Amino acid sequence: MDAVTDSKAALGEKARNFVSNTRKMLIDGKWVSSVSGKTFSTIDPATGSVITDVCEGDKEDIGLAVMAARRAFEDGPWVKMIPSHRERLLHRLADLIEENAEELAELEALDNGKNKAIAQAVDIGIAIETFRYMAGWPSKITGDVLPLSVPIAPDQDFFGYTLREPVGVIGQIIPWNFPLLMCAWKLAPALACGNTIVLKPAEETPLTALRLGELICEAGFPDGVVNIVPGYGHTAGAALTAHPEVDKIAFTGSTEVGKIIAREAADSMKKVSMELGGKSPAIIMPDADLEIAIPGAASAIMFNQGQVCCAGSRLYVPDNLYDAFLEGMTENISSLSIGSGLNPENMVNPLVSEIQLERVMNYIDIGRQEGASVVTGGKRRGDTGYFVEPTILAETSQDMKVVQEEIFGPVVCVQRYSDVSEIVKLANDTIYGLGASLWTRDVGNIVKIVPKIKAGTVWVNCHNILDVAMPFGGFKQSGYGRELGKEVLELYTQTKSVCIMA
Ligand code: NAI
Ligand code: MG
Repeated sequence: MDAVTDSKAALGEKARNFVSNTRKMLIDGKWVSSVSGKTFSTIDPATGSVITDVCEGDKEDIGLAVMAARRAFEDGPWVKMIPSHRERLLHRLADLIEENAEELAELEALDNGKNKAIAQAVDIGIAIETFRYMAGWPSKITGDVLPLSVPIAPDQDFFGYTLREPVGVIGQIIPWNFPLLMCAWKLAPALACGNTIVLKPAEETPLTALRLGELICEAGFPDGVVNIVPGYGHTAGAALTAHPEVDKIAFTGSTEVGKIIAREAADSMKKVSMELGGKSPAIIMPDADLEIAIPGAASAIMFNQGQVCCAGSRLYVPDNLYDAFLEGMTENISSLSIGSGLNPENMVNPLVSEIQLERVMNYIDIGRQEGASVVTGGKRRGDTGYFVEPTILAETSQDMKVVQEEIFGPVVCVQRYSDVSEIVKLANDTIYGLGASLWTRDVGNIVKIVPKIKAGTVWVNCHNILDVAMPFGGFKQSGYGRELGKEVLELYTQTKSVCIMA
C-alpha cells in the first residue's frame, strides 16, 4: 500500500478550488453561514487530515430552512409551475451533474474515501439516471375518476375523483456511504412530486451535497425549494425531525437511529419512510456456477468496503462446494490492491471514519472471540487512514453476534450448510430483511425459494444491482416504504378525494 500524505494533490482544479474555502449552507436560494457561526471539519479518510471546514447547522438554521421550504411550498413559483417545466428543471439538473461528473467523483472519493472511477460510474452515474427517470413523472402523476354509489341520496348526481398532491415540506436525512447518490434518491422523486425539501447530509460527507446545491441553483429551481443544511444528527437531524412545519421525514441510516426518528416524528404525526440496515445473505446452492458465484459473492461484500446497506455479509455455502469456495474467495479478495480511492487502481479503499474503523475492528475481535476463524485479512492496514483488510470469518454459526449484527465493513461471515431444506430458515434468521441473493443454475430453486425469502430485493446470480426502475426497501427491521421505481410516488404524494354534488 502506498501511503498518501496529501490527497488534494490528486484533485483536478475544480475540485481543489471547491475545498479551498469554508463551505456554506443553502437556505432559501442563498449560501449562508450558520446562525451560531460554528463550523466543523470534514476529514479525508485516506490520511485522517482535514479536507476543509463546513458551516455547522443547528436548530436555528434548520428553522430558517424549514420556513423557507414552507414559503416555497405555499406560495412560490414552484406551486404554480406546470408539470413539463418541473420536468425540464430535473433534466437540466441531470445534465449539469453529468457535465460536472469528474469533479463530483473526485469530491466523493476525497470525502468518503471510495474509488474515484467507481464513484464516477456508479455513484454519479446512477444519480444522473435517477434524476432523468424521475423527470418523467411530473406530467404523469394522476388521480382517478371514481364510480360513486351514494345510497343515501339516490336522486342526486355526484362526481367523484382523486387528486395526487405533494406531501409538503420534506425533511431528508441521509448517510455517508453513497453521499451524492443518496441525495439523488431522496431529492429527485420528492421534486418530481412537487414537494419542497430540507436535506441534511451526513456529517462525515457533506461536500457533494453542497456542490449539488450549487448545481440546483444553476439549473434554476426556485429559491427555497431545496435547502441543504449540513450538521450533526443529534442537533440538526433531531431539530428537523421535531420541527412542526415538516410534513414528512425520509431517512436512510442505521436501524437504531431510524427508531429514534420514528418515535420522535410520531409526536407531530409526520409521515415517515425508513431505509435502514441489513445483514443480507448470499445463498450458494449446491449447483451454483462457481465461476460466477465466487467473484459475485466477493464483490457482494467488498463493494464500497462493505459499507452498503444491502451488502452480502452472510455467505451460506453447501458442504460440496465449501473448500473450493473458500479458497477461490480468499484468492479473489486478498489480491485486491489497498490504498487511496483517488488512485483508481486501488480497489480496497479506507472506511469513512475513525469511528467506523474502530467499529469494524471491534467486530472482527468479537468474531475471533466467538470462535470464527479468520481465513484472510482481519487487520488494519497502515497507521494513517482508516484501511481494513478484506476479511473472511469462516465457520460461523447463526447465534454469533458477527452473523446477527450489521458490521458495515469489508467482513464476510462464511457459514457451511449441509441440508438444502434448512437454507430459507437460515437466510431469514436475523432482524433485518433488506436484500438477499441466490446463486443457482436451477430455475426450480428460484421459483421455490424466492417467495420464501423475507427481503425487499432478491437477486439471482448477482448482488447489489440497483436500478432506478426497481423499488428498493426493507422487510422487517430494515425499514418501510419503497424508494425508486413507480412505488416511490407513494412516499411523496398524498391522495385527496373530491366529491361534487350537482
Ligand atoms: P446514523 O444512522 O447515525 O447516521 C445516518 C444519518 O442520520 C446521518 O445524517 C446522521 O447525522 C443522522 N442522525 C444520527 N442521529 C440522529 C438523530 N438522533 N436524529 C436525526 N438524525 C440523526 O449512522 P452512523 O452512525 O453513521 O453509522 C452507524 C451504523 O449504522 C453503521 O455502522 C451501519 O451499520 C449503519 N448504517 C447504515 C446505513 C444504511 O445505508 N442502511 C448507512 C449508514 C450507516
Ligand atoms: Mg450515528
